Amino acid sequence: MEGALTARDRVGIQDFVLLDETTEAAFLSNLKKRFSKDLIYTYIGTLLVSVNPYKELDIYNRKQMDLYMGVNFFELPPHIYALADNAYHTMLTEFNNHFILISGESGAGKTEASKKILQYYAVSCPSTTLLNTVRDKMLMSNPVLEAFGNAKTLKNNNSSRFGKYMDIQFDSQGDAVGGHILNYLLEKSRVVHQNHGERNFHIFYQLVEGGEEDLLHQLGLERDCQHYNYLTQGECAIVSSNNDRNDWKTVKNALQIINIDEINTTHLFGTVASVLHLGNVQFDSDSKGHALLNSNNAELRWVSNLLGVDAHRLQEGLTYRKIEAQKDQVLSPFTIDHAIYARDALAKAIYGKTFTWLVNRINESIENKVRRKDSSRKTVIGLLDIYGFEVFYVNSFEQFCINYCNEKLQQLFIQLTLKAEQEEYQAEDIEWEPVQFFNNKIICDLVEEKHRGIISILDEECLRPGDATDLTFLERLEEKMGNHPHFVTHKLADKTTRKTLERGDFRLLHYAGEVTYCVVGFVDKNNDLLYKSIRDLICQSKNAIVRECFSTMDPDSRRRPETVATQFKSSLLKLTEILMAKEAWYIRCLKSNESKQPGQFDEALIRHQVKYLGLMEHLRVRRAGFAYRRKYEVFLKRYKPLCPDTWPHWRGVPADGVEVLVQHLGYLPNEYKMGRTKIFIRHPRTLFATEDAFEKCKHELATKLQAKYKGYKAKGEFKKQKEAATKIETCWRGVQARKERDKRAWAVKVIKKFIKGYMTRGQAKSTDNSEYLAFVRQNYLNRLKGNLPKTVLDKTTWQTPPAVLTETSEILRKLYYRLMVRKYVRGLTPQKKAQFQLKLLTSSIFKAKKDSYPQSVAQPFVDTRISEQDINMRVLQMIRNEHIKYSVPVIKYDRNGFKPRPRQLILTMTAAYVIEEAKIKQRVLYTSLKGISVSNLTDGMIVFHITCEDRKQKGDLVMQCDHLFELLTKLAVIANKQNAIKVVQGSIKIEIQAGKENAVDFSTGQEPMVYKAKNGHLMVVATRARTR
Ligand SMILES: Nc1ncnc2c1ncn2[C@@H]1O[C@H](COP(=O)(O)OP(=O)(O)OP(=O)(O)O)[C@@H](O)[C@H]1O
Ligand SMILES: [Mg+2]
Repeated sequence: MEGALTARDRVGIQDFVLLDETTEAAFLSNLKKRFSKDLIYTYIGTLLVSVNPYKELDIYNRKQMDLYMGVNFFELPPHIYALADNAYHTMLTEFNNHFILISGESGAGKTEASKKILQYYAVSCPSTTLLNTVRDKMLMSNPVLEAFGNAKTLKNNNSSRFGKYMDIQFDSQGDAVGGHILNYLLEKSRVVHQNHGERNFHIFYQLVEGGEEDLLHQLGLERDCQHYNYLTQGECAIVSSNNDRNDWKTVKNALQIINIDEINTTHLFGTVASVLHLGNVQFDSDSKGHALLNSNNAELRWVSNLLGVDAHRLQEGLTYRKIEAQKDQVLSPFTIDHAIYARDALAKAIYGKTFTWLVNRINESIENKVRRKDSSRKTVIGLLDIYGFEVFYVNSFEQFCINYCNEKLQQLFIQLTLKAEQEEYQAEDIEWEPVQFFNNKIICDLVEEKHRGIISILDEECLRPGDATDLTFLERLEEKMGNHPHFVTHKLADKTTRKTLERGDFRLLHYAGEVTYCVVGFVDKNNDLLYKSIRDLICQSKNAIVRECFSTMDPDSRRRPETVATQFKSSLLKLTEILMAKEAWYIRCLKSNESKQPGQFDEALIRHQVKYLGLMEHLRVRRAGFAYRRKYEVFLKRYKPLCPDTWPHWRGVPADGVEVLVQHLGYLPNEYKMGRTKIFIRHPRTLFATEDAFEKCKHELATKLQAKYKGYKAKGEFKKQKEAATKIETCWRGVQARKERDKRAWAVKVIKKFIKGYMTRGQAKSTDNSEYLAFVRQNYLNRLKGNLPKTVLDKTTWQTPPAVLTETSEILRKLYYRLMVRKYVRGLTPQKKAQFQLKLLTSSIFKAKKDSYPQSVAQPFVDTRISEQDINMRVLQMIRNEHIKYSVPVIKYDRNGFKPRPRQLILTMTAAYVIEEAKIKQRVLYTSLKGISVSNLTDGMIVFHITCEDRKQKGDLVMQCDHLFELLTKLAVIANKQNAIKVVQGSIKIEIQAGKENAVDFSTGQEPMVYKAKNGHLMVVATRARTR
């Protein structure tokens, strides 16, 4: 920010308020410094000082306009666009009317400034097609009005010879929707007379120089300005014919744009041409000095032609005066002077009224035609561009009016700035040291005061019966104004002053300097009378414009029209009222030099202007006072975002809020003052800094707001989504709950049915239990499927069936076992099968009879327990042919004494052999084996009962064999003896020899034992069978 400030201040100081000292020298030096660098604009606060550069500067282009659009006043270097833009935006934000007062002496650049402003608005304001045409018309009204109302003077080649106040109307959106122009007192005398070095109004030269041949021919004009008396008096008809020609084209085009049709354009140029012809009407004089004019005079004919009036009556009107004496009319001939006066009066009247007609036409075309709903909400910016203060060598009635007008505007400026400003400080209770300034009210009063002012005295002279002349007017002035400090005449002046005054002069000490007026013509010009006969004639003109202009006058009115000065005074009064109701912006234009040269800074000339324009006083008031003030509410509203205590709302009194705010901003005590209703800020830089901070903060705020808004939106969105989710959830839960309910209801039904089914499970199949039973069946079958016995032997795994399935289960079980058996059986090898057959046999013999049987079942049988290698060769040789079927080691108990002897027992096809090594100890033919006994216990005792028919034969064979079942089964098969095998309880009788018996007793005990008991029996103690 600081950097920006210094950048702005690069050349001199951009705002005089920031000057270190407030001397005139410092002021001028700053102005000069900036002027030398073509920086023609400088501020005094919000007042814009502009110095005429007299050269085209490249600062009015589109780029510059864009640069200044919507930018804060102090953001950029001083420019007329900044002021225009600021006025525009203040108007929009505050909804009030504004005006821009452009003042300065003739040639200072007022008209240029007003054009620049208009151009700026044309570009910067939003627009529509309709508004574009309004805008074009407003812009184009300028060349037309300048052609008809501007002229070259000694001061300015394009001097405004009329006052112009233009309202630009804006709607609430800021669109320029229309405009209205008020025009003030055109310097009509110029039509008939120009001072040396000056010209008539531009349009005459433009027409003569630029008009098309046809047109000139039609208007009876020659392409030569020198030919026309009204154009040659200043002896400088041609400033630049090239300019006139180009301007002619511009004006013609502009007339079209402002809707002046072809007929009216013809009439318009007809009136202009008629003036030129009038100027060339010359009078002769007869012997009595009466004016003579031939009605065949070519110029007169052209005038009558162009105005559409009778030539003869015109000639009569110009040379005779009609005097109405009772009912008769008497024609009184004019002297040449009178005739010239009448001619010139007609020319001035025609031109003056045509000018007013033109302004009215422009007003019609730029009138606001947009009818919007809020058409009542319109605000305006007024642009005041009035002829500037001027002093010529000879100053006449026109200069008097022009300078009076400038006095009034200066008075307004004083009222609104110096005076009002200082009064405001008092009203606001701000400590204040009054700044002295020259109040030109005294001069305004001198001119306009009722009964006592110059205008009143002039009017009195004009209306006074008798011979009132300019000189009698001067005398009356001297009488009345005798000792007024701002008024002096030759008669009243002291010796030295007297030398500078002619007898017919009076001098006014204007705010802008002394001006000496020559009274000649004051009375006539003020009367501005048109002889009645001419007026009557003109009212019947066939030229529509002329007729329209003059028909507003009541031809029979005997009442004298208001004098020119009084009309002017009232119009200025009205203007003041219009302006007072608006907010003012000021542009003070300074003329850089008298010779209209670029780059020349005439210090004396500028010092003079600075002085009389009151710029130093303005600066002092601004500096001593406060550059800016704002109502507390407005200030707080704008800057409250800069302080957390005031943002977003300050709930208390606005003044307190402002105090808090400026404290927070770090304003020093001498930088501001708190008034009754406003805050006063001394330096622009303070406000500027605040404004900069605000600009910065605006972006931050915008981001914050954006973020907040985004958050808000997202939250909203989230809430919506959440609501939607909840809704969906609710619906879904509902769906689920209903499903659940249905499921439960179904479950209840199922359970109920299940229970009922359970309760009636024993009953015949019915609707109540059918499902249950089906379930039970299914369930049982499933269970069964998963838990089927793995082996045939597994008798426990089979699932216990429910009652209804007992039968089925049994069938299934059997089927399943059968299946398993079949599977098993199919899987058996022939050996295994043989084995099983043997086992089956074993079972049939021993099952449930002998205690050791159960343990033996699982032990497979083998083919033999002794391989052939382990049998003695001799034995083998002896019995081979009997086919050894099975061999097993046994313990043979002697018959006498029961001594245990380990032996081999070999079974052949025919006999069993007891072998001891190579000896066959006993051969038992199966035929002689009458029985085989074993105990029912767990022991391995076997008794072969042998038929003992002869003594040689040994007795029964008692053996103990570990493979009892195997041996006996094999024996049973080989010898077919299964029926011979007996399982005996208690004891087995044995026959030791024929007729000699003994017994083997069996009992159970802890340890297995075999011994000979005391009773001679063989005692066999077997362990108790293991119970399963
Ligand atoms: N900003 C400017 N840039 C360039 N030239 C300028 C500027 N302002 C004024 N001029 C020159 O000065 C001349 C006089 O300016 P302008 O007609 O605006 O004066 P004025 O104050 O309206 O005078 P008057 O009171 O006589 O109407 C212009 O014709 C133009 O040549
Ligand atoms: Mg001007």
